[in-house]
Amino acid sequence: MATLTFPLNDGTSIPALAFGTGTALYNKDARDAVTTAITSGFVHLDGAQMYGNEDSLGDAIVASGKPRESLYITTKLTELKNGATVKSALQESLRKLKVDYVNLFLIHMPTHHEGRLKEVWKQMEEVKKEGLAKSIGVSNFRIKDFEEFLPEATIKPAVNQIEFHPYLLKASEQLLEYTTKLGIRTESYGGLTPIVRARGGPLDPVLAKIRERLEKTAGKPVSEGQVLSKWLLQKEIVVVTTSSKPERVKEYLDVPNLPDLSPEEVAEIESTGKKQHTRAFCQFLDK
Ligand SMILES: NC(=O)c1ccc[n+]([C@@H]2O[C@H](COP(=O)([O-])OP(=O)(O)OC[C@H]3O[C@@H](n4cnc5c(N)ncnc54)[C@H](OP(=O)(O)O)[C@@H]3O)[C@@H](O)[C@H]2O)c1
Repeated sequence: MATLTFPLNDGTSIPALAFGTGTALYNKDARDAVTTAITSGFVHLDGAQMYGNEDSLGDAIVASGKPRESLYITTKLTELKNGATVKSALQESLRKLKVDYVNLFLIHMPTHHEGRLKEVWKQMEEVKKEGLAKSIGVSNFRIKDFEEFLPEATIKPAVNQIEFHPYLLKASEQLLEYTTKLGIRTESYGGLTPIVRARGGPLDPVLAKIRERLEKTAGKPVSEGQVLSKWLLQKEIVVVTTSSKPERVKEYLDVPNLPDLSPEEVAEIESTGKKQHTRAFCQFLDK
């Protein structure tokens, strides 16, 4: 089955489903989980300097034996300490990941570079020009963060990776309108929050109903997590997820093959999602 991809504003394309090595794998050896993900068919791997496990992600990449060009590797810049530059920090990541370039390099948090976003973005542009990162972007950025550096940027960020699910629809409306206008693609993390971190909310019966309908239409088991991921993909948002369970890894990869949610189902998820606000990560984004 061909990998579903979305175009980015720099002429490249990004695989729509990513396997992440943060959250559950934070500061843990990611080798086994990533090996399962690659063997099952994930090509997009989402790492970060802050996750403290780029080395083991790199080990799994090498062990997979996959040609470099068949994988899409993301990592993220953490705080710059002890005279490090964006380039020296990325070079350290490349060494750990055991690759010559990453496909996507993100500034992980605007708060790591308070008052320095212009300068840091300039350095991000340089590593892209040097080919160490094919695409550059940001994560957890608010409109005010974009406004701080965009006027002097010569390359626009390709993506903004943010927590996104129906319970953040209302809070993210203006940000998404702003980034969409600029052609900046959204990547979602924490997309399963309504069923993993906020059970008991108004979406529960809606997801149960849609799951049942999809299961009948597809003629195979469908989970509520797949319904949430399908909703994201239909909005052309990249889904960054993770799992320790091989069955669930396969489930995620099957989402593009499931029948589409109907316009009425999408509308019901969205009107219901807007009734609750839940942010599981990065509370500073609500301030
Ligand atoms: N840029 C950032 O600041 C940032 C922040 C957070 C995350 N991320 C990235 O996004 C990736 C995914 O983040 P996430 O963990 O928040 O993703 P998520 O897709 O919201 O949640 C995945 C987790 O949900 C669990 N899960 C799935 N279905 C479940 C169910 N039916 N019942 C109970 N648990 C279930 C999985 O556990 P099992 O192992 O049991 O399947 C897994 O740990 C991270 O690894 C990281 O790469 C980025």
